[in-house]
Amino acid sequence: MTVVALYGSPHRRGFSSALHDILLERLASSGWTIRRVYAYDESIAPCTDCGFCRDRFECVHRDAMESLYGPLCDAGAITVSSPVYFSSFPGQLKNLIDRCQVVWEKNRRSGGMPARKRGYLILTSGRSYPNVFSPSIIVARHFFNTMNCAFDEGEYFLLPDTEGMAGPPPESASRLEEMAVKFGQSPPDIPCRSL
Ligand SMILES: Cc1cc2nc3c(=O)[nH]c(=O)nc-3n(C[C@H](O)[C@H](O)[C@H](O)COP(=O)(O)O)c2cc1C
Repeated sequence: MTVVALYGSPHRRGFSSALHDILLERLASSGWTIRRVYAYDESIAPCTDCGFCRDRFECVHRDAMESLYGPLCDAGAITVSSPVYFSSFPGQLKNLIDRCQVVWEKNRRSGGMPARKRGYLILTSGRSYPNVFSPSIIVARHFFNTMNCAFDEGEYFLLPDTEGMAGPPPESASRLEEMAVKFGQSPPDIPCRSL
């Protein structure tokens, strides 16, 4: 089984990427194949709502997304890590998500849903204030629903207030290792949530 791991931070050794790596290393040691995708390293044009994907499983843009649609649809899990930028996802990760409109349109045409899979989210923010993670969680919900991911928002790893921290708190590792164990179980029967 493959995990497609989407990294939203430009920093490979930043907070969200480091937390993501802890989860993925544990998954790799229990037999998962990991495909890492660093959004900032990929050439992904923004969706222009041109309508090209309304009747075909294809995008007008010829870029990195061409080789990502298949793995994203067929994966056994999609994991996403990201910092909060202006209370939402950084633009490059949002470009990738918006380009999954191709899949959303295919689902709407009943063109065959992507494989049922797990979805998991790791978020970090510099500050802590009410609803700091809510916009990102809503975007992720929409994305996971489109990709046919089972997810449990109560289990996401959320680390606020990183400003001034030297690195993720040591207890993060045990919590992420617990999450990795849950990945070994069969996908939970969690229905897609409405937005
Ligand atoms: C452009 C930009 C916008 C940011 N916006 C927010 C924000 O709205 N709220 C917040 O709490 N932190 C904000 N931050 C801080 C980051 O979310 C925080 O430093 C995060 O932990 C970085 O994660 P990383 O190390 O994985 O990149 C912002 C940082 C940048 C560079």
